[in-house]
Amino acid sequence: MKRIIEVKLKTRTVNFAECKTPMLVVGNFSDAKRLDATNKKLDRKLDGAIERLIKLGDFKGKEGTSAVVYGNGLIGAERVLLVGLGEQKKATIDTARKAAALAANKAVGLKASSLALALHKALGGKFDTELLAQAMAEGVYYGSYRYDEYVTSEENGRTDSLAVEVIDEDATKVRRLEKGLARGIVIGKAQSYARTVASRPGNVINPPALAQEARKLARTTPGLSCSVLDEKQMAELGMGGVLAVGSGSRTPPRFIVIRYRPSKGADKLPTIGLVGKAITFDSGGISIKPAHNMDRMKLDKTGGIAVLATIKAAAELKLPVNLYAIVPSAENMPGGASFRPGDIVTTYSGKTVEIQNTDAEGRMVLCDGIHYAVRQNCETIIDIATLTGACMVALGTHMAGVMTNNEQLGKDIEKAAQTSGEKVWPMPSGDEYAQEMKSKIADLKNTGSKWGGACTAAAFLRQFAGDKKWAHLDIAGMDYIEKPAEWSTAGASAFGVRLLTTYLVNLVERKGKR
Ligand code: BES
Ligand code: MN
Ligand code: ZN
Repeated sequence: MKRIIEVKLKTRTVNFAECKTPMLVVGNFSDAKRLDATNKKLDRKLDGAIERLIKLGDFKGKEGTSAVVYGNGLIGAERVLLVGLGEQKKATIDTARKAAALAANKAVGLKASSLALALHKALGGKFDTELLAQAMAEGVYYGSYRYDEYVTSEENGRTDSLAVEVIDEDATKVRRLEKGLARGIVIGKAQSYARTVASRPGNVINPPALAQEARKLARTTPGLSCSVLDEKQMAELGMGGVLAVGSGSRTPPRFIVIRYRPSKGADKLPTIGLVGKAITFDSGGISIKPAHNMDRMKLDKTGGIAVLATIKAAAELKLPVNLYAIVPSAENMPGGASFRPGDIVTTYSGKTVEIQNTDAEGRMVLCDGIHYAVRQNCETIIDIATLTGACMVALGTHMAGVMTNNEQLGKDIEKAAQTSGEKVWPMPSGDEYAQEMKSKIADLKNTGSKWGGACTAAAFLRQFAGDKKWAHLDIAGMDYIEKPAEWSTAGASAFGVRLLTTYLVNLVERKGKR
């Protein structure tokens, strides 16, 4: 099996015009009146080629666009890649991330095995240097990523590795870039890990296989420990939700838990529980889904995988916070042993649920996961799940829905969304919605009315969080990139890895300052 492209990132102090590289990458705004200093410096040695290209209208600096100017022997680079950054006032940290991703994507496309990034020069006045370097690193991982483990034909030949240098002329600046890069590398790797495991189909990743993957992750990452409950252990504990969903499959469910405890002062630090839905394939069960696009439901495990990747990143960054990654995993299949509409299921919390639709299975595994987090006394619980088509209808494929019982937690997640570029939008989950989830013959039922499906699903989950701070991320529609873009190929997106890691980084940095 092919391994994914290995990215090697480092910094270098070097004169922009003299930097020897197959591809030097610089940024340009669409509303700039003239070239900035970095472009100007190159342009002089290129005999005005950049100016001419812009004057001809071949490159307007729009976001997602780029142009190539070839070297003339007077600069070190063989090519200069001009990347559009859009309008100056609209630029965010994600502009740097996407620009770096575009460059890395192009480099892989051209089979160039290395490139040099100077994108921070254009954005430097506006954003923190460290953060820019982090975003560029994340972008490089994103744009260069290819999922081709199972492609055996040579046509698909591509470079095995991509060496990237983030360059600057000022050594002090380079030291700051270096710091941000280190963090970006950890997050970028976690992101690629998530994309790979998520992309593997249902016949490769079933719940026991995902548990093996989690064990391996814990074994190879210092600070992590993994425990997995099998179906017998789950039955002893009364985890009726996960067991019901897994009952129709030939491959049994697993309750996966990874713990991260910082090496110093763990007892005094807060404990956060991250709970991720990991349905390795969602056929809908007895309430079976239509055939069209059903293959996408291999990605119904992406919430759980995002949580695994986040705890990997948190441990590698040595964040001072205790974490649980709680990943209830099952395959939702129809069969003689399946749970069925009308069944009454007793969940881990003791609450009973009347099943109305076996396709509303995510909440049935998450309620046990959330209750597990409550029992471990996590002060904050965040769950993440490809939970409802209704959330996709409401928000499309640009943002995830966020529901919470705590305003500050909602704000913290929104703040993390801004820096991570993984956007969220607040949605309600209060009493009106909870009312719809009441059953006449059990404590709850697993579906609401025709309307507001994302909100009723969240209101269901909310009731399992007790008095803990809780937030829910509905990432249906965000798990997948449908059309290849300049900054990424199509496929699993790893949505949530940057968002959750950034949330944790912000949390510990704020605690430190108080
Ligand atoms: N995994 C799906 C939600 C989903 C849909 C994710 C599309 C990604 C893309 C979930 O398990 C589901 O089937 N939800 C049902 C709930 C309904 C039966 C109340 C839905 O959204 O239709
Ligand atoms: Mn479903
Ligand atoms: Zn599902």
